[in-house]
Amino acid sequence: MSSRGAVLSTQRIVIFGGLGAGAIAAQSIAALASAGAALELAGFLNDAMPRGERICGAPVLGTFADWRGLDRDVGFLAPLHKAKAMPSRRHLVEALGVPPQRWRSVVDPRSAVAADAVIGEGCFIGPFATVAPGASLGRHSVVRAGAHVSHDCAVGDFVFIGSNAVVSGWATLRDGAYVAPSAAIRDRCQVGRFAVVGLGAVVVRDVPDFAVVAGSPARQIGTVAALEGS
Ligand SMILES: CC(C)(COP(=O)(O)OP(=O)(O)OC[C@H]1O[C@@H](n2cnc3c(N)ncnc32)[C@H](O)[C@@H]1OP(=O)(O)O)[C@@H](O)C(=O)NCCC(=O)NCCS
Repeated sequence: MSSRGAVLSTQRIVIFGGLGAGAIAAQSIAALASAGAALELAGFLNDAMPRGERICGAPVLGTFADWRGLDRDVGFLAPLHKAKAMPSRRHLVEALGVPPQRWRSVVDPRSAVAADAVIGEGCFIGPFATVAPGASLGRHSVVRAGAHVSHDCAVGDFVFIGSNAVVSGWATLRDGAYVAPSAAIRDRCQVGRFAVVGLGAVVVRDVPDFAVVAGSPARQIGTVAALEGS
């Protein structure tokens, strides 16, 4: 395994969001800059906070819609994942209309990502996370601090893997799946589209699309409301 940053050339990054997930990603951008990567956090786009307000020392530059007015060399990250709201959050990101080439992946320099792991555009890998050989992540997926994505796992688009969660070998997390902190997924298990695995849950059998599961062993306790077309 090797530690590395995904952003190799000088780059300004703007984060959609703010306090919470945005601030966490900002810490990794700062760590990459401290480690010598030629990049900087240019600011945030936020629909709730006023322009000029500062988050982690960087300014709110405008609302989500204002991305179109930013310089063409600015890249974007949108860590907007939320349990039970993944269908609407994914729709929100897609509806922005940001061209694929302007999304950036941020890989914290303290993470360990295997050289052959595939990381899609717009992903965020937090500090002390590990992504093992043969694993793949789609677009806009997040692996939070200390989480482990084991060998040969297939992680789809817009998936959230919370801090210290363990996704065992050959597991599959389908598009929009949400794995809360400290959950564990048994090897070869599949977590369905937009399904939620609760805090500390131990998944030992496949989780259906849109199911909410919790406990050890994990059992279904609810469902996620689908968006039309999701
Ligand atoms: C799984 C989860 C989505 C369920 O939330 P919810 O649908 O609002 O469900 P409730 O809190 O009403 O709980 C329903 C039942 O399941 C139980 N339950 C909920 N989460 C549980 C968990 N993680 N483990 C065990 N039982 C759990 C509750 O105790 C409750 O049981 P009861 O009916 O006997 O009282 C939520 O508990 C969760 O884990 N959210 C993720 C939070 C997260 O990721 N935070 C970190 C962000 S970085």
